[in-house]
Amino acid sequence: MNPNQTRKKDAESGAALDNKRIRSDFPILAQSINNHPLAYLDSAASSQRPQQVIDAIRHYYSHDHSNVHRGVHTLSHRATEAYEGTREKVRQFINAESTSEIVFTKGTTESINLVADSLGRDFSPGDEILISHMEHHSNIVPWQLLCEKNGTRLVVAPINNQGELLLDDCLGLISDKTRLIAITHVSNALGTINPVENLIIEARSRNIPVLVDGAQAIPHQAVDVRALDCDFYAFSSHKMCGPTGIGVLYGKQQWLDRMPPYQGGGDMILSVSFKETLYNELPYKFEAGTPNIAGAVGLGAAIDYLSEISMPAIAAYEAKLLTYATSAIGQLPGVELVGTAAKKAGVISFNIEGIHPHDIGTILDHQGVAIRTGHHCAMPVMEFFGIAGTARASLAFYNNEDDIDQLVTGLKLAIKMFQQ
Ligand code: ALA
Repeated sequence: MNPNQTRKKDAESGAALDNKRIRSDFPILAQSINNHPLAYLDSAASSQRPQQVIDAIRHYYSHDHSNVHRGVHTLSHRATEAYEGTREKVRQFINAESTSEIVFTKGTTESINLVADSLGRDFSPGDEILISHMEHHSNIVPWQLLCEKNGTRLVVAPINNQGELLLDDCLGLISDKTRLIAITHVSNALGTINPVENLIIEARSRNIPVLVDGAQAIPHQAVDVRALDCDFYAFSSHKMCGPTGIGVLYGKQQWLDRMPPYQGGGDMILSVSFKETLYNELPYKFEAGTPNIAGAVGLGAAIDYLSEISMPAIAAYEAKLLTYATSAIGQLPGVELVGTAAKKAGVISFNIEGIHPHDIGTILDHQGVAIRTGHHCAMPVMEFFGIAGTARASLAFYNNEDDIDQLVTGLKLAIKMFQQ
């Protein structure tokens, strides 16, 4: 085997991932919380950042900061190069055709709102938007706002008791009136990986655009937007080891070209007069105002970091850890796993008989374990399962079996306390 083949094989088996070295890159993980080592199991809410990302932002503010696209001076050139450099890194990371298709936003939520506001302006009363029952609120409410505005109808594809999309039912809901399909790649509340490829093939044959909410997929697997052939792909930097406040909307040029600007202001124009204003070329047409330049710098460093480890290696490592965690948590008395799809990534949602999820979260925090509890901004999912919320442990490649063991010890303590 040549070195490339060996690397590929290592990556696929997860063997290439040196968890000990990786953990040492994340200063936040080295601390104690409530006299216990921190076991951070809340990466679906927000991941942590390696020193490389922190250093890149610090270096940018210490040496290179100015506004982008606006000055002839050296610092403005440096800031522009850094900002546009990240756009190219994003393009490569998701294998988009052109940087014109990479729009920087505040995050996944803004990316989806942008499409709802801009593409949606063209929708008429009676037109339909198809989503699934497992969407995050940010892939529900922007469409509801649009429906209120122009009489578009929201159609919801059902899920089963494992928390899987009922694909045939979903395909059956596509109609002549469907103007857009908006679906999550990976459910934040359940961890389900959706068969977005199959949905896209069907949508393509009917010329219906598909928006994929990739917030919970992009940190866990390699994403290739050209292979997927999706029309839009939305994701956030802070879930993939980058800073908060910046995200990406990938959109095929054919759609972005015909969509009107989302917001007006500086940088999104070619010329302004009281008679006529001309909009800038892509992607700047969608980036009004001074952007989050430091955020882009941090995101670029995060992409470098993830790419060096390699997304297939991360996926393989996390799959093993998910199996370990699911089995360890699932064996505890009174535990009910919520979301048991055959294909899952990164998330274990559960309830324990007789213990409110918030109490589980509080007891775990006293043991140094960070999880999220509640409805996870996915209230329709909770409604489907007839529960108010869950306790959710979510994984990243910097976690290890010790984190899971610490979680299980904390859960045993919670069970013991509530049994007395
Ligand atoms: N969407 C984030 C989560 O699932 C905040 O926790």
